[in-house]
Amino acid sequence: MVTDVSDKRFDTKFVRDRTRLYKYNINNSDKSLIKFNLDELAEAARRHVGKTMEAKKGDGMVFVNCMEKLTMGGPRETLQVRLKAALDAGIDGITLSAGLHLGSFALMEDHPRFRDAKLGIIVSSVRALQLFLRKNARLNRLPDYVIVEGPLAGGHLGFGMDWAQFDLATIAAEIVQFLKTEQLDIPLIAAGGVFTGSDAVSFLEAGCAGVQVATRFTVAKECGLPTKVKQEYFQANEDDIVVNTLSPTGYPMRMLKNTPAIGAGVRPGCESYGYLLDAAGHCAYITAYNNAVAANPQAKVVVVNDKTCLCTHMRNYNCWTCGHYTYRLKDTTRRLEDGSYAELSAEHIFHDYQFSVDHQVLLPALV
Ligand SMILES: Cc1cc2nc3c(=O)[nH]c(=O)nc-3n(C[C@H](O)[C@H](O)[C@H](O)COP(=O)(O)O)c2cc1C
Repeated sequence: MVTDVSDKRFDTKFVRDRTRLYKYNINNSDKSLIKFNLDELAEAARRHVGKTMEAKKGDGMVFVNCMEKLTMGGPRETLQVRLKAALDAGIDGITLSAGLHLGSFALMEDHPRFRDAKLGIIVSSVRALQLFLRKNARLNRLPDYVIVEGPLAGGHLGFGMDWAQFDLATIAAEIVQFLKTEQLDIPLIAAGGVFTGSDAVSFLEAGCAGVQVATRFTVAKECGLPTKVKQEYFQANEDDIVVNTLSPTGYPMRMLKNTPAIGAGVRPGCESYGYLLDAAGHCAYITAYNNAVAANPQAKVVVVNDKTCLCTHMRNYNCWTCGHYTYRLKDTTRRLEDGSYAELSAEHIFHDYQFSVDHQVLLPALV
């Protein structure tokens, strides 16, 4: 959603201009006419990454997460533009996510930074990693790191609806063994449900080089979610969290049950956003919406239960995707007098991961 992010942060007008350009199509159920301007996409991505790199201090590294499933009416072309623009703008590394990415390295092959920037992939099984390595063997360029994401992660899952039958520790152990057998010296990073420093230690002891965490940081002051939404995350109980098939990408997705996006029958916002349009200009939400309208032609507001318009709802912070352990966030902070939960600083959470022992979580200092 980089053009929208650019508009919000840097006062560009990409989305407004697109909406004007395609205004004539807003009531058309066929969205295949909508195209993305690749120069604009490159400009937005370069600005987003470039400004981030300018703001970087110290010797840490900044990586960007590139999702294959954001197809924008031209899966190959748009992904290539996003990847190359990030490299142009000096990103330290790129993580390839949400998809198998079998051809993504090749899309950057002729970029001068292809061998110097760090490139990593997210997989959810040893098989996916094996497939990736086989398909990319001719490039003579291994991933610099591999993230193994288990079924307790936030947002989209690399599993089917039988996700509960899998477990991160087992998959990580299989990959550790595979890398050892093949004598591949690639750091493995475990992700999905690593909630305490002690969880992290158990993965390090099992041969992982690091962990990737997200859920704990959704309630950090630095997290971009609106304050009200962060309170929803704090308040959630275990049975308030659901994995469903509402995402038009076809991947199961984890979210809070009271997410406004569920059942909302908004008109598809492809003229403004269109991030999930496939090469033929289709998206599973458009089909679901058109079916709902056809079934209730007189209705002013339709309910669409089988899919959700991720573009519009994500854009408005109305799709509350979350990790499995979101229901434990309330145990990581203090309750304020008005009943709300205190947001934490990212620094506090980071230190807690580094120094906590015995699965304890350090509460923030009393103010
Ligand atoms: C609210 C939320 C949204 C996420 N969205 C994305 C996403 O858009 N793309 C992606 O590759 N991973 C996404 N993730 C997954 C994280 O990158 C990460 O691998 C995983 O959630 C780590 O597990 P944890 O949340 O249990 O710490 C998301 C995670 C959360 C919590």
